[in-house]
Amino acid sequence: MFSKLFFALISLALTLLSSASAGIIDFEEAGGVAGDNSLKTCWQNGALINSTLASLQPGDTFVFPNKTFHVMGGLRSDGLTDVTISFDGTLVFSNDIDSWPKNENGDVFPSLIFNSPKNVIFTSSGKGTLDGQGGKWWGLPGIGYLRRQENRPRLFEIASGENILVENIFFLNSAYWTFWVHDVKGLEVRFCDIEARRTEKDKHTLIDITAFNTDGYDVTGRDVWIHDCTVWNQDDTIAVKDDSQNMLFERITASGVGLTIGSIGSSTVKNITFRDCHMHNTYKGIYTKFRGEGGVIEDVTYENIIIENPSQWPIWIGPAQQSDSNRLCAAHPCSICWPTVPFAECNAADSQYKNILLKNITVIGGKMSPGVIMGGTSEGMGMENIVFDDVVFQDPSSKPWGDDYYKCEGVISGVAKGKTWPVPPCFDDQTDKN
Ligand SMILES: *[C@@H]1O[C@H](CO)[C@@H](O)[C@H](O)[C@H]1NC(C)=O
Ligand SMILES: *[C@@H]1O[C@H](CO)[C@@H](O)[C@H](O)[C@H]1NC(C)=O
Ligand SMILES: *[C@@H]1O[C@H](CO)[C@@H](O)[C@H](O)[C@H]1NC(C)=O
Ligand SMILES: *[C@@H]1O[C@H](CO)[C@@H](O)[C@H](O)[C@H]1NC(C)=O
Repeated sequence: MFSKLFFALISLALTLLSSASAGIIDFEEAGGVAGDNSLKTCWQNGALINSTLASLQPGDTFVFPNKTFHVMGGLRSDGLTDVTISFDGTLVFSNDIDSWPKNENGDVFPSLIFNSPKNVIFTSSGKGTLDGQGGKWWGLPGIGYLRRQENRPRLFEIASGENILVENIFFLNSAYWTFWVHDVKGLEVRFCDIEARRTEKDKHTLIDITAFNTDGYDVTGRDVWIHDCTVWNQDDTIAVKDDSQNMLFERITASGVGLTIGSIGSSTVKNITFRDCHMHNTYKGIYTKFRGEGGVIEDVTYENIIIENPSQWPIWIGPAQQSDSNRLCAAHPCSICWPTVPFAECNAADSQYKNILLKNITVIGGKMSPGVIMGGTSEGMGMENIVFDDVVFQDPSSKPWGDDYYKCEGVISGVAKGKTWPVPPCFDDQTDKN
């Protein structure tokens, strides 16, 4: 009896102690300087964020008050546990490219990276902003890319996290990929917005599209749920990358280079669902892509998606259409110049698609033919069990595939059902009309 009471008292004392040490750390009270974009202040604020992140204890909340703080990038935290970070105002990352922290090879560090965080919440009392000031990094349209290529900082990166929540944050004008959370176990993202654009036009102009590689939500790992978010950018809006499983993306308004799986190398990607999404004036629509051999993409559903006026392919299931060099038309493995530019190649990847369902997809208008479905051509590499159920185009373009509407090859078993129209020519037509 006595010892029970004794232990109860000890544990009460310990609880009080830990709640007394768990605290709220306000960035400005800690010495952060608001409203000054001088290089000196950027470095001071950055160093203070680095040191504050390193000092956080389980239970702490680190608050950026509702003001604007200019900071140098390369901010880094290792092993945060049970912490909340609240961006109540705006962090503007410096665009001083020469000063930006780099490794010994000259490669820039990300703006903000968290290595191995566990049970961490990124939030805001309203909507916090992380501003990457990408314009300076993108450079002059067309020329900027040749100069800097992909040596530009990601805006927000989490490596090997566990049980992470990201909410109420606006990621603005990242210099490179916006949101890169990889090898995660358990991630929820909600009520977040991503924007990367050069103009205010309600479309992806030739000028806007030169803000290359401004990917939206890029993820790898297990158990990811991203919902009720928006993205307007100039590359993949969502990209599920290598070795990913059990992911759900829903109620997302997305306009850019597609709701994407890939590019996938030789890994397996499995059990991925996109549903209830709206793609207004997007560039690509549904986009799954292999860049290498020996990969598998299986058990994938795209459901209840509206694609309005896509300026490029509405549906693409095949190899990655990209160039990884500064030769724009290089085929890695399928050229972005294909099929319009003569001699541009599109090579199928020897990788496998299995159990891919597109259901209740409506595509309105668009500048190109409905799509490309291109499976591997080597023995055993063709696509298996590809189902289009109510995949309906209103007023599709006939360029470039004419009455075929799709380029359709390397499919072992494909079925069109319900009201699907047009039917991909290499599919079995089991539609209502038939
Ligand atoms: C933050 O810390 C990282 C890692 O130590 C370092 O590379 C970077 O330069 C620091 N950033 C600032 C602004 O002090
Ligand atoms: C910050 O303050 C502005 C008004 O100055 C307000 O509109 C906004 O909602 C506030 N944001 C947060 C995150 O509280
Ligand atoms: C597929 O992923 C979802 C999460 O999106 C999960 O709830 C479900 O259990 C997974 N299914 C299988 C068979 O693992
Ligand atoms: C088809 O998708 C649209 C758009 O998400 C949705 O409004 C509609 O209810 C869906 N139809 C069915 C039958 O689920």
